[in-house]
Amino acid sequence: MNNREIQAAWKYHDGTKHTYWSIRNHPHLLDWANRPQSFKIYPKPEPLPLPRDVPQTGVTALSAISESAPSSRADSVPGLQDLARLLYFSAGITKQRTYPSGEIYFRAAACTGALYEIELYVVTGDLPGLDAGVYHFNPADVSLRLLRKDDFRGNVAQATAMEPAVAHAPTIIVCTGTYWRNAWKYQARTYRHFGWDNGTMLANMLAVAGASGLPAEVVLGFVDAEVNRLLDLNTRREVSLCLVPIGRTSERSLPEPKQAPALGLEVIPLSQREIEYPAMLEMHDASSLASVEEVAQWRGKPPVLPCPCLAGEPVRLPRLPEEEQSKDTIEQVILRRGSTRTFDKAAAITLAQVSVILDHATRGLPADFLRPPGGQLNDLYLIVHSVQGLKPGAYFFRREQNTLELLKEGNFRAEAHHLGLEQELPADACLDIFFLADLSGILERYGNRGYRAVQLEAGAIGGRIYLAAYAQHLGATGLTFFDDDVISFFSPHARDKSAIFLLAIGKPLKRKPQ
Ligand SMILES: Cc1cc2nc3c(=O)[nH]c(=O)nc-3n(C[C@H](O)[C@H](O)[C@H](O)COP(=O)(O)O)c2cc1C
Repeated sequence: MNNREIQAAWKYHDGTKHTYWSIRNHPHLLDWANRPQSFKIYPKPEPLPLPRDVPQTGVTALSAISESAPSSRADSVPGLQDLARLLYFSAGITKQRTYPSGEIYFRAAACTGALYEIELYVVTGDLPGLDAGVYHFNPADVSLRLLRKDDFRGNVAQATAMEPAVAHAPTIIVCTGTYWRNAWKYQARTYRHFGWDNGTMLANMLAVAGASGLPAEVVLGFVDAEVNRLLDLNTRREVSLCLVPIGRTSERSLPEPKQAPALGLEVIPLSQREIEYPAMLEMHDASSLASVEEVAQWRGKPPVLPCPCLAGEPVRLPRLPEEEQSKDTIEQVILRRGSTRTFDKAAAITLAQVSVILDHATRGLPADFLRPPGGQLNDLYLIVHSVQGLKPGAYFFRREQNTLELLKEGNFRAEAHHLGLEQELPADACLDIFFLADLSGILERYGNRGYRAVQLEAGAIGGRIYLAAYAQHLGATGLTFFDDDVISFFSPHARDKSAIFLLAIGKPLKRKPQ
């Protein structure tokens, strides 16, 4: 299947929509006895423990999520402490809770179902404190395991058609998705979750890289088979999703690509048995890039998407003076973050708080599919329940103008309850942010791989929204939704768009002591 044959992405998207009836007619019972392991475990390679007490950057979360480190000509090479900070605050264990079903190790970034299907690998040249090699990061023991010795950055650079950020990176983090670990609960919809859960992790990773003074960006243009081969992935089970080159070096001697023979390393099975969902393998295959030429053609300008006309009287979002904004550091906020389980329905937040969230989360993702920087594939639509200074109702966020346009006024808690898969969270929050995208225009421009891009961008902006909310001591949670009902609710404005992502924001309900 070819990336340009975009009926593949439509087939997957339409085939994995939630509807009122799909939930009722196809209830999915969880097989707890066959629950997958949360960690990828290579029993043979010796663990290389990463330093744990790494100094904090001291950079505020709000500036870390909205400003990247400048990619100046000067070299910026991460040391082992930087790498440890990046990996831990992207994928490390931050909390542990005991449930009747067993122990759950919660991680730095939000993830659907706390199933943690995204793995991180490091392809590096020699760094201060770490020899060149291909490593796997295991959050369970905060260690790296050496899979291949030697410098393989040339292989990755070649797979990206010599993308400059990769060709000049001292080290590259590769994010992969493991189907079964998430599909155990979410079945074929997991391919969407790959983008969301990788995205929330990227929000942390880019913020911590920036706070550490290291340039970083998301690279989605690469020959899939080359990167998968380098990591020796069994691609029926696990696939590379994106690359994040970290730092910059002016060194000209990027090594030539090397042979990367199969490793045959033992991996502990995730479950007694795994169920394969062909729709996801097809979607991945159809969105893969097969050659360096295809990668070079693929990268480039984002699509020019139609700009919706003015919908209603614009409400300008107030800019909170810098000195009044939260000073909590990125590390403090990541450690504090956790998805809100119950919102206080009686609470309200302020327009200034909403403004801080929208402004800091939507300043553009540094990504190879969004050049020149600043573009965005997802549009944000809001249902406002209780925000001081805003009438309750449905709004469109016009990012370039930093305004909200009222689409319809009213109390839509009941509608939000329905749209968010009949959960209480979107009804009890102060506001819900829906991500909608012009999927036709995006697929037209990027082919099926545009589907990966739009989901990944939504997850990354969603991850930034989480962090901006928690920086202000608010609560937030990602949510899933009834696709077509979301579009109907925001139509006619959203008529030709598709529902991509949903997040609710509010104040967590403080439980009274018993
Ligand atoms: C994209 C996304 C969708 C989510 N959807 C739901 C949902 O529909 N209902 C829910 O209760 N929690 C949802 N969550 C919250 C996850 O269950 C939560 O992130 C996970 O349990 C990890 O916990 P933590 O975020 O507190 O670290 C979602 C999270 C994400 C990132």
